[in-house]
Amino acid sequence: MSTPSGLRSFSWDELPDELLSLINRAKDAAEKAHAPYSNFMVGAALLLDDGRVLTGNNQENAVFPAGICAERVVLAYAHANWPERKPLRIAVAARRRDNSDHAFVSPCGICRQTLAEYEQKFGSAIEIYMVVPERRVLKASGVDDLLPVKFADF
Ligand code: THU
Repeated sequence: MSTPSGLRSFSWDELPDELLSLINRAKDAAEKAHAPYSNFMVGAALLLDDGRVLTGNNQENAVFPAGICAERVVLAYAHANWPERKPLRIAVAARRRDNSDHAFVSPCGICRQTLAEYEQKFGSAIEIYMVVPERRVLKASGVDDLLPVKFADF
């Protein structure tokens, strides 16, 4: 199924095992989020080009703007430790603490710009899989689908 923005929507049942496993890693990571202020727990799982999968989650702070999204936690960790490994795809999943079902989630503007930075460095798109309610996933083929006009230092 296509959406107006160029995203594709899939049922979990249509996804190959390798994608389901990335999505499950994101879901598991969400359960370890530090989100005492919003109670919106987000997990992200990032696949690198050596097959490694890294995970992160949102880390909130009593000084609210100091909080950081799950996507940037895992992207920063990946690039701090494996700076030559290209990120291939990222899965993001979220739920509200009082609801066992998944919430709609889509990377915020700062996370989109951060994804764009690594796409530019490695010269290739990062696929973005967003877990949404009713056992569906939205796929962006790269950050261009989410942030078509971006700031770039070139
Ligand atoms: N958040 C993420 O970690 N990733 C997203 O894609 C959306 C929002 C976090 C930020 C904040 O800790 C909480 O979710 C509520 O906005």
